[in-house]
Amino acid sequence: MTGGPLTVAEPYLIEQKWDAYTAEQHAVWAELVRRRMPQLREHAAEEYLNGFEQIGLREDTIPNLADVNRRLGPRTGWNATPVSGFLPPDAFFEMLGARQFPTTTYIRGRESMEYTPEPDIFHDVFGHVPMHAHPVFADFLQHYGRVSAALMHDKEKLEKMGRLFWFTVEFGVIRQKGKVKLYGSGLISSHGEGTHVIEGKPEIRDFNLEQVLEQRFLVSEEQKVLYAVESFDQIYEAAQEAEKRLG
Ligand SMILES: [Fe+2]
Repeated sequence: MTGGPLTVAEPYLIEQKWDAYTAEQHAVWAELVRRRMPQLREHAAEEYLNGFEQIGLREDTIPNLADVNRRLGPRTGWNATPVSGFLPPDAFFEMLGARQFPTTTYIRGRESMEYTPEPDIFHDVFGHVPMHAHPVFADFLQHYGRVSAALMHDKEKLEKMGRLFWFTVEFGVIRQKGKVKLYGSGLISSHGEGTHVIEGKPEIRDFNLEQVLEQRFLVSEEQKVLYAVESFDQIYEAAQEAEKRLG
């Protein structure tokens, strides 16, 4: 179901030593979740909130990835797979293509509750993994990985694919019941970024693949432009279309 063994990503795979987390680390997780949930119950996409329940995330303890995967795997074939840190692109795409989401196991300290430059388990699991329980999003993300892996030789095309990732997986929003709802992990996992969107600061454009592929962004700044989809079918189709255009 997960598409065979990993080769390029293999050296980055680790085990999550769940028993080694300290009470303080669980407390950091709990504080991060409690700070985000009131806003997300109102402003997150329903698919995110459903996924959160379905994969059994809890407010009070850092998730044990084996437990998450026992619930997630049978739904969509995705796994949250522990890795040592930031992955090079070829390893990252290989994992997405195999429905394995590279997941850091480290949790930030109290000095960086708002933002960490390196991803941590809060960004990766609280932010990303609930969406992987949604079948259409699940298919989209795998396809995204496969298309990107095939473009490894072309820096320019890969940069365009990076923009598609940024404006969907990381900073995606969706219109539901007349409102803009959050689903990208960069918005879900960051109180500052999420609030910025809810306060109506970024310009929200209708999702348009051609524009997204050309839209530059800065990782280090609050986002000025976001793209709203009407349904997750739209990003699935966008990955197919990107393959036709760039592949
Ligand atoms: Fe991310």
